[in-house]
Amino acid sequence: MPAKRHALIAGNWKMNGLKNDARLLAGGIANRMAKVKKAPFEVVVCPPTPLIGLVVEIVKGKGVSVGGQDCHANVSGAHTGDTSAALLKSMGCKYTIVGHSERRTDHRETDENVREKAVAAHAAGLTAIICIGETFQEYADGKSEEVNKRQLKSSLPEDSNAKNTVIAYEPVWAIGTGKVATPEQAQEVHALIRNDLAKLIGNHESQKIRILYGGSMKPSNALDLLALPDVDGGLIGGASLEVSDFWKITQAISS
Ligand code: 13P
Repeated sequence: MPAKRHALIAGNWKMNGLKNDARLLAGGIANRMAKVKKAPFEVVVCPPTPLIGLVVEIVKGKGVSVGGQDCHANVSGAHTGDTSAALLKSMGCKYTIVGHSERRTDHRETDENVREKAVAAHAAGLTAIICIGETFQEYADGKSEEVNKRQLKSSLPEDSNAKNTVIAYEPVWAIGTGKVATPEQAQEVHALIRNDLAKLIGNHESQKIRILYGGSMKPSNALDLLALPDVDGGLIGGASLEVSDFWKITQAISS
């Protein structure tokens, strides 16, 4: 029987919302979370970088964590437009996403870049949410297992453990498309990832580390996905922009 892992429901707001939207969204989630006595899940919201300070203030003391959507590999320096993990930490973040497929595509980030960012996140005291996942073409070519194996091995820092790292499996073909992995597909890939993690960081940590599913998770499919033995939460895009949808997903954990 694997160790019970504390579920993590993470909202990736991506490049959505203005200041007032962030106020309403963060406030709505924080108010709901504040009423929960002993939540069987952890909630993290990842707003666009300029809104992080505001969101940290809004959720303070309400049991909601804040994360960045990316970080730079360096602590400081001449990197216009980038944000260091140390700055995210100093602003009150607990997490940062690294290696999201949209950054791998839009910014041509390689596994090596992702690993360096995760190393920086760890050094700053953040928990890195490392994203991996195959494209539709790779999936259609039957290469999902090979791609996830390679991305995991090459993106994961050596010092990774269940405290400083969360893995998010996000099949690219399921992101923002309304197509969602079936529970069978999700469980199969998550189990393979956990198996690979055992080889990379040891069996003990692999049993404790959280593996999130991401890609069109909604209130209507969350129950089936979150009930799977190797799915320890969700990384949610579109449905994290509506307080009620996001909250309904968290409730799939307790039920
Ligand atoms: P959607 O939930 O909009 O498919 O996005 C998933 C995602 O990319 C979360 O990081």
